[in-house]
Amino acid sequence: MDKDLAQQKIENAQSREELTAIYNELFGKNGSLTVTLKELKNLSIEERKERGAELNIIKRELQDVYDVKWNTLSEVDTHKPPIDVTLPGERTVTGDLHLTTKAIDDIRRIFQKIGFYDYTYHEVEWEYFSFDTLNMGPTHPARDDFETFFVQGPVSSKYGRMVMSPHTSSGQAREMLRRQGPPIRMISIAKCYRPNWDASHTPMFHQFEGLCVDKNITINHLKGTIAHFAREYYGSDVKTRLRPYHFQFTEPSFEVDISCSVCNGTGMVDNRKCKVCKSGWLELGGAGMVHPHVLRSGNIDPEVYSGWAFGIGIERILMMRGSIEDMRPLYEGNVSLYYHNS
Ligand code: DAH
Repeated sequence: MDKDLAQQKIENAQSREELTAIYNELFGKNGSLTVTLKELKNLSIEERKERGAELNIIKRELQDVYDVKWNTLSEVDTHKPPIDVTLPGERTVTGDLHLTTKAIDDIRRIFQKIGFYDYTYHEVEWEYFSFDTLNMGPTHPARDDFETFFVQGPVSSKYGRMVMSPHTSSGQAREMLRRQGPPIRMISIAKCYRPNWDASHTPMFHQFEGLCVDKNITINHLKGTIAHFAREYYGSDVKTRLRPYHFQFTEPSFEVDISCSVCNGTGMVDNRKCKVCKSGWLELGGAGMVHPHVLRSGNIDPEVYSGWAFGIGIERILMMRGSIEDMRPLYEGNVSLYYHNS
């Protein structure tokens, strides 16, 4: 066991791997120093003491040299082949806008192009604007607290209680008053609130409301506008239809349907009823010609002006486009959903 030679070997090591091998050669089970120490037992007591002390000093010194060397060598083994920079890297996850935000941007752009401005109304609203101006009297079932969130707060003798606005229609009379009369071509996109929770309902959701008031406005303008939106948003093949319905604030009233893209409007897939629509059509939202009561609430003379309105749920159109099957995860903050859909 030559101390100087061992020290030199340690100091010349090029990598931690090599250093470990040298360490084992010296201090391992059959290492040269270990063996020399074991052989001490063959010596006389006197010699053993002297030689033992000497060897222990050498051992400690070599270990110190080893420790210093270990720290100077980097963890990366210099003898390993260099990293192959031509290998494909790991894909990093990038952020994206929320699906609802993207839908809102699309809607806004489509309507801006045909001359509609957008204006957002309040999330906390008076009963008066959410119901009374819309011809929904004091006993209308939507005013039940199973249907609408009432806010604890001041009660106005003129406007009633405060509610979390249950639909964007609350902005209809407000817009007529704000503009102080026609022409009105508004698209209003906002959060709405209702106490529901299932695959197609969350307590907070979004709607967009179209409102157009001017002289000689007819159902044709409503049909044309909705058909334009559906083609721009879903694709040029999509057909629209108005189906007679009832709303308090429009007369006549319609439900707006679009042809189902899964079965191409036939209602059948492989000789079976289409699972998505069952009939070839999917309901997009509500619409109609603005009721004279609503126009009067907005200070507009129904004898001179007419108008149309529609209201459509944004999460609903995302579901109809096949972007999501269940609305609830949209507002649960589970980020992986967006990577699958964007
Ligand atoms: N406010 C209705 C709802 O939330 C939707 C609606 C129907 C809006 C007909 C309208 C309309 O403007 O004309 O269910």
